[in-house]
Amino acid sequence: MKFLTFYLPIIIGFFAFLEVSFKTWLPNHFVFDPQVLLKICNDAIAKNPQGNTTQIMIDIVPELQKAYPNLINDLNFDDWVFNNAGGAMGNMFILHASISEYLIFFGSATGTEGHSGVHYADDYFTILAQHQKAAYPQSLEPEMYYPGDQHHLKRGHVKQYSVPSGGYALELAQGWIPAMLPFGMISFLTSTLDLYTCYRTCLYTGKDMILNLLKGKF
Ligand SMILES: *[C@@H]1O[C@H](CO)[C@@H](O)[C@H](O)[C@H]1NC(C)=O
Repeated sequence: MKFLTFYLPIIIGFFAFLEVSFKTWLPNHFVFDPQVLLKICNDAIAKNPQGNTTQIMIDIVPELQKAYPNLINDLNFDDWVFNNAGGAMGNMFILHASISEYLIFFGSATGTEGHSGVHYADDYFTILAQHQKAAYPQSLEPEMYYPGDQHHLKRGHVKQYSVPSGGYALELAQGWIPAMLPFGMISFLTSTLDLYTCYRTCLYTGKDMILNLLKGKF
Protein backbone atom coordinates (compact mmCIF):
# COMPACT_ATOMS: atom_id res chain seq x y z
CA MET A 1 0.00 0.00 0.00
CA LYS A 2 2.82 2.35 0.88
CA PHE A 3 4.36 1.50 -2.51
CA LEU A 4 1.21 2.56 -4.37
CA THR A 5 0.58 5.74 -2.44
CA PHE A 6 4.11 6.92 -1.83
CA TYR A 7 6.84 5.41 -4.03
CA LEU A 8 4.82 4.95 -7.22
CA PRO A 9 3.91 8.66 -7.53
CA ILE A 10 7.57 9.56 -6.91
CA ILE A 11 8.72 7.16 -9.63
CA ILE A 12 6.06 8.39 -12.06
CA GLY A 13 6.89 12.00 -11.22
CA PHE A 14 10.57 11.36 -11.78
CA PHE A 15 10.01 9.84 -15.23
CA ALA A 16 7.49 12.58 -16.12
CA PHE A 17 10.19 15.13 -15.24
CA LEU A 18 12.78 13.33 -17.40
CA GLU A 19 10.31 13.03 -20.26
CA VAL A 20 9.02 16.60 -20.26
CA SER A 21 12.48 18.12 -19.76
CA PHE A 22 13.91 15.98 -22.57
CA LYS A 23 11.32 17.43 -24.95
CA THR A 24 11.55 21.05 -23.81
CA TRP A 25 14.34 22.43 -21.71
CA LEU A 26 17.19 19.91 -21.88
CA PRO A 27 17.93 20.23 -25.66
CA ASN A 28 18.68 23.95 -25.17
CA HIS A 29 21.89 22.77 -23.50
CA PHE A 30 23.09 20.61 -26.40
CA VAL A 31 26.03 22.17 -28.21
CA PHE A 32 27.30 19.28 -30.36
CA ASP A 33 25.86 18.82 -33.83
CA PRO A 34 25.95 15.21 -35.10
CA GLN A 35 26.33 16.52 -38.68
CA VAL A 36 29.40 18.58 -37.74
CA LEU A 37 30.93 15.55 -36.02
CA LEU A 38 30.19 13.41 -39.05
CA LYS A 39 31.97 15.91 -41.34
CA ILE A 40 35.02 16.11 -39.04
CA CYS A 41 35.23 12.29 -38.89
CA ASN A 42 34.86 11.92 -42.65
CA ASP A 43 37.58 14.51 -43.31
CA ALA A 44 39.98 12.67 -40.98
CA ILE A 45 39.12 9.30 -42.53
CA ALA A 46 39.72 10.73 -46.03
CA LYS A 47 43.09 12.12 -44.91
CA ASN A 48 44.17 8.64 -43.77
CA PRO A 49 43.37 6.25 -46.61
CA GLN A 50 45.61 3.63 -45.00
CA GLY A 51 43.15 3.61 -42.09
CA ASN A 52 45.53 4.33 -39.19
CA THR A 53 43.03 4.68 -36.30
CA THR A 54 45.51 6.44 -33.99
CA GLN A 55 46.28 9.05 -36.62
CA ILE A 56 42.57 9.50 -37.44
CA MET A 57 41.91 10.29 -33.75
CA ILE A 58 44.95 12.60 -33.62
CA ASP A 59 43.54 14.47 -36.65
CA ILE A 60 39.98 14.65 -35.29
CA VAL A 61 40.64 16.22 -31.89
CA PRO A 62 42.06 19.64 -33.04
CA GLU A 63 39.14 19.97 -35.45
CA LEU A 64 36.70 19.26 -32.60
CA GLN A 65 38.54 21.83 -30.47
CA LYS A 66 38.19 24.40 -33.28
CA ALA A 67 34.47 23.69 -33.71
CA TYR A 68 33.78 23.56 -29.94
CA PRO A 69 36.35 25.78 -28.21
CA ASN A 70 37.02 25.10 -24.55
CA LEU A 71 34.86 21.96 -24.42
CA ILE A 72 37.12 19.19 -25.75
CA ASN A 73 39.92 17.53 -23.78
CA ASP A 74 43.34 17.08 -25.37
CA LEU A 75 43.82 13.53 -26.60
CA ASN A 76 46.40 11.36 -24.90
CA PHE A 77 46.94 7.64 -24.76
CA ASP A 78 47.28 7.37 -20.97
CA ASP A 79 43.80 8.35 -19.80
CA TRP A 80 41.91 5.60 -21.62
CA VAL A 81 39.66 3.42 -19.47
CA PHE A 82 37.94 0.10 -19.92
CA ASN A 83 34.17 0.14 -19.98
CA ASN A 84 32.03 -2.89 -19.16
CA ALA A 85 28.33 -2.46 -19.82
CA GLY A 86 25.56 -4.68 -21.08
CA GLY A 87 27.91 -7.61 -21.46
CA ALA A 88 30.21 -5.71 -23.81
CA MET A 89 33.72 -4.59 -22.95
CA GLY A 90 35.56 -1.81 -24.71
CA ASN A 91 37.97 1.01 -24.06
CA MET A 92 37.21 4.69 -24.20
CA PHE A 93 38.68 8.17 -23.97
CA ILE A 94 36.49 10.98 -22.63
CA LEU A 95 36.66 14.04 -24.89
CA HIS A 96 33.77 15.80 -23.16
CA ALA A 97 31.35 15.00 -20.34
CA SER A 98 28.61 17.26 -19.04
CA ILE A 99 25.13 16.74 -17.61
CA SER A 100 23.40 16.70 -20.99
CA GLU A 101 26.11 15.41 -23.36
CA TYR A 102 29.17 13.24 -23.63
CA LEU A 103 31.63 12.77 -26.45
CA ILE A 104 34.06 9.84 -26.35
CA PHE A 105 36.22 7.63 -28.50
CA PHE A 106 34.91 4.14 -27.91
CA GLY A 107 35.70 0.76 -29.35
CA SER A 108 37.60 -2.41 -28.73
CA ALA A 109 41.05 -3.63 -29.70
CA THR A 110 39.92 -7.25 -29.33
CA GLY A 111 36.32 -6.89 -30.49
CA THR A 112 33.18 -7.07 -28.38
CA GLU A 113 29.44 -7.57 -28.39
CA GLY A 114 26.56 -6.77 -26.09
CA HIS A 115 23.38 -4.93 -25.21
CA SER A 116 23.14 -1.25 -26.14
CA GLY A 117 21.43 -0.33 -22.87
CA VAL A 118 18.13 1.56 -22.57
CA HIS A 119 19.08 5.23 -22.45
CA TYR A 120 17.43 8.56 -21.77
CA ALA A 121 19.61 9.94 -24.55
CA ASP A 122 20.09 9.90 -28.29
CA ASP A 123 23.30 8.21 -29.29
CA TYR A 124 25.32 8.98 -32.45
CA PHE A 125 28.04 6.44 -33.15
CA THR A 126 30.30 7.55 -36.02
CA ILE A 127 32.51 4.68 -37.18
CA LEU A 128 36.22 5.46 -37.57
CA ALA A 129 37.66 1.99 -38.13
CA GLN A 130 36.34 -1.49 -38.95
CA HIS A 131 32.56 -1.64 -38.59
CA GLN A 132 29.64 -1.98 -36.20
CA LYS A 133 26.79 -4.46 -36.48
CA ALA A 134 23.49 -3.65 -34.76
CA ALA A 135 20.10 -5.31 -34.68
CA TYR A 136 16.63 -4.99 -33.13
CA PRO A 137 15.15 -8.16 -31.58
CA GLN A 138 12.93 -8.73 -34.63
CA SER A 139 15.89 -8.50 -37.04
CA LEU A 140 17.47 -11.63 -38.49
CA GLU A 141 20.02 -9.59 -40.46
CA PRO A 142 22.19 -6.92 -38.82
CA GLU A 143 22.39 -3.27 -39.80
CA MET A 144 25.97 -2.59 -40.93
CA TYR A 145 27.90 0.62 -40.29
CA TYR A 146 31.28 1.32 -41.88
CA PRO A 147 33.89 4.10 -41.46
CA GLY A 148 32.19 7.43 -42.08
CA ASP A 149 28.71 6.06 -41.30
CA GLN A 150 26.79 7.41 -38.33
CA HIS A 151 24.56 5.03 -36.39
CA HIS A 152 21.81 6.94 -34.58
CA LEU A 153 20.38 4.89 -31.73
CA LYS A 154 17.25 6.78 -30.71
CA ARG A 155 16.42 7.45 -27.09
CA GLY A 156 14.83 4.39 -25.48
CA HIS A 157 15.61 2.11 -28.42
CA VAL A 158 17.42 -1.15 -27.71
CA LYS A 159 19.73 -3.12 -29.96
CA GLN A 160 22.30 -5.85 -29.78
CA TYR A 161 25.59 -4.65 -31.24
CA SER A 162 29.08 -5.81 -32.00
CA VAL A 163 32.36 -4.36 -33.17
CA PRO A 164 35.19 -6.56 -34.48
CA SER A 165 38.80 -6.33 -33.36
CA GLY A 166 40.04 -2.76 -33.93
CA GLY A 167 36.54 -1.31 -34.28
CA TYR A 168 36.48 2.29 -33.04
CA ALA A 169 34.01 5.17 -33.18
CA LEU A 170 33.40 8.73 -32.06
CA GLU A 171 30.32 8.49 -29.85
CA LEU A 172 28.05 11.41 -28.95
CA ALA A 173 25.25 11.02 -26.41
CA GLN A 174 22.70 13.77 -25.85
CA GLY A 175 20.16 13.50 -23.05
CA TRP A 176 20.19 12.85 -19.33
CA ILE A 177 23.79 11.62 -19.03
CA PRO A 178 23.66 10.88 -15.26
CA ALA A 179 20.77 8.50 -16.02
CA MET A 180 23.14 6.51 -18.29
CA LEU A 181 25.82 6.11 -15.66
CA PRO A 182 24.25 3.18 -13.73
CA PHE A 183 24.33 1.11 -16.95
CA GLY A 184 27.96 2.10 -17.45
CA MET A 185 28.98 1.42 -13.85
CA ILE A 186 26.92 -1.48 -12.48
CA SER A 187 29.24 -4.11 -13.98
CA PHE A 188 31.94 -2.95 -11.59
CA LEU A 189 29.75 -4.23 -8.74
CA THR A 190 28.15 -7.26 -10.38
CA SER A 191 30.95 -8.59 -12.51
CA THR A 192 34.41 -7.07 -12.90
CA LEU A 193 35.10 -5.77 -9.34
CA ASP A 194 37.74 -3.67 -11.10
CA LEU A 195 37.94 -0.89 -8.53
CA TYR A 196 40.84 0.93 -10.14
CA THR A 197 38.97 1.25 -13.46
CA CYS A 198 35.85 2.31 -11.56
CA TYR A 199 37.86 4.96 -9.72
CA ARG A 200 39.42 6.31 -12.93
CA THR A 201 36.08 6.33 -14.78
CA CYS A 202 34.38 8.23 -11.94
CA LEU A 203 37.33 10.60 -11.68
CA TYR A 204 37.50 11.51 -15.39
CA THR A 205 33.72 11.71 -15.81
CA GLY A 206 33.07 13.60 -12.58
CA LYS A 207 35.96 16.01 -13.08
CA ASP A 208 34.84 16.87 -16.62
CA MET A 209 31.20 17.28 -15.62
CA ILE A 210 32.11 19.66 -12.80
CA LEU A 211 34.63 21.65 -14.87
CA ASN A 212 32.09 22.02 -17.68
CA LEU A 213 29.37 23.03 -15.24
CA LEU A 214 31.71 25.74 -13.91
CA LYS A 215 32.15 26.96 -17.50
CA GLY A 216 28.36 27.18 -17.73
CA LYS A 217 27.99 24.03 -19.87
CA PHE A 218 25.13 22.02 -18.35
C1 LIG B 1 49.77 5.20 -37.01
O1 LIG B 1 49.89 6.54 -36.59
C2 LIG B 1 50.63 6.71 -35.39
C3 LIG B 1 50.56 8.19 -35.03
O2 LIG B 1 50.97 9.00 -36.09
C4 LIG B 1 52.06 6.23 -35.60
O3 LIG B 1 52.79 6.39 -34.41
C5 LIG B 1 52.02 4.77 -36.01
O4 LIG B 1 53.33 4.31 -36.31
C6 LIG B 1 51.14 4.57 -37.22
N1 LIG B 1 50.98 3.15 -37.47
C7 LIG B 1 51.20 2.62 -38.67
C8 LIG B 1 50.98 1.15 -38.76
O5 LIG B 1 51.51 3.28 -39.64
